[in-house]
Amino acid sequence: MSQKVPPAELSACQALSPEELTSRIGRVRAAWGSRLLMLGHHYQRDDVIALCDLRGDSYQLAAQAAANGACRAIVFCGVHFMAETADILANRPEQIERRGGVRIPVILPDLAAGCSLADMADREQVEDCWAQLAEVIDPDDLTPITYVNSTAELKAFCGRHGGLVCTSANARLALEWAFTRRSRALFFPDQHLGRNTAKALGVPLERMPLWNPNAPKLGGNTAEALRRSRVILWRGFCCVHQVFQPQQIERFRAQHPGIKIIVHPECPMEVVDRADAAGSTGAIIRAVEESPPGAKWAIGTEPHLVERLKREHPEQEIHLLSPALHPCETMQRIDLPHLGWALEHLQAGAPVNVIEVDSETSRDALTALQRMLELQ
Ligand code: 13P
Ligand code: SF4
Repeated sequence: MSQKVPPAELSACQALSPEELTSRIGRVRAAWGSRLLMLGHHYQRDDVIALCDLRGDSYQLAAQAAANGACRAIVFCGVHFMAETADILANRPEQIERRGGVRIPVILPDLAAGCSLADMADREQVEDCWAQLAEVIDPDDLTPITYVNSTAELKAFCGRHGGLVCTSANARLALEWAFTRRSRALFFPDQHLGRNTAKALGVPLERMPLWNPNAPKLGGNTAEALRRSRVILWRGFCCVHQVFQPQQIERFRAQHPGIKIIVHPECPMEVVDRADAAGSTGAIIRAVEESPPGAKWAIGTEPHLVERLKREHPEQEIHLLSPALHPCETMQRIDLPHLGWALEHLQAGAPVNVIEVDSETSRDALTALQRMLELQ
């Protein structure tokens, strides 16, 4: 997948000042022009996001990677599953053919930028779950849906079994798509996004059993509960969004009359139910941008994004819903030294940390991603 990090060169970059790193990064960007696409997720650190060509939520970034035909390299300032998705979309067969057979490198400046939620389901566990479910329900009547925060292997699993990928921006459309085809869905790995979305579509909680991949049998459920199910939820969660609590909402409402609460759908159901709105990072930004001066918000998502919104909208009163929230640890591993180091290697013709999904996995994952991109 990638070359090993030469520690000496990286440490040399780590010893440089932010100004020196920014200017070195600028030199590589100027040399590459529009042939280099730097994509940044909204949770990224400020000094890094300021250098990105495009910023977006995970749906927007996937769509941009799919659409861009001109670039010859992508540097992904996000986390591993996002770079895998960009590789699958940017190097899909028709794009490679359009470029005359050329694959483009998708670079993740620090390979340790993973996602703890994505790590909560692996291929073996999901295949085992599917096999166990097949003993009690008809698998031909079950659609697997994977949140984009998952490995390429799980996206491929969905592609092979008539399922699809979703992001927090289109989970409702994905579940509706699934219900028009089959009567049940298996939703992984984020239980909260699955539960919040299914509940909004009217699925009762008692028809959403939770699958514990570590339970000895049937994910800790009875066969009867699984036969009654409409959506089987995987027991995964995001450690950043899991910490929001309903009491925080009550406190803000009591102390700031007229305040609106908006949260990410990875938050627990008790939080989403009490909020005024829930949406992807892109939807949260749009809600603030469309509000008049003087609007008051408490926002339940990653602090880098909330702090940036505060600075970009001084005409509004913006609070982070949880005062003691830590940033996404893995997202912020992409820093100026890693970015500078990765870009200088690209410039030297020896790219490092290239994320390359194998062709069979890419083919099946692309099927599931294309079903998502076609959702209306
Ligand atoms: P978005 O899809 O809203 O960008 O969120 C991605 C993510 O990782 C949230 O934790
Ligand atoms: Fe993963 Fe949570 Fe970080 Fe998003 S915020 S990348 S779900 S760990």
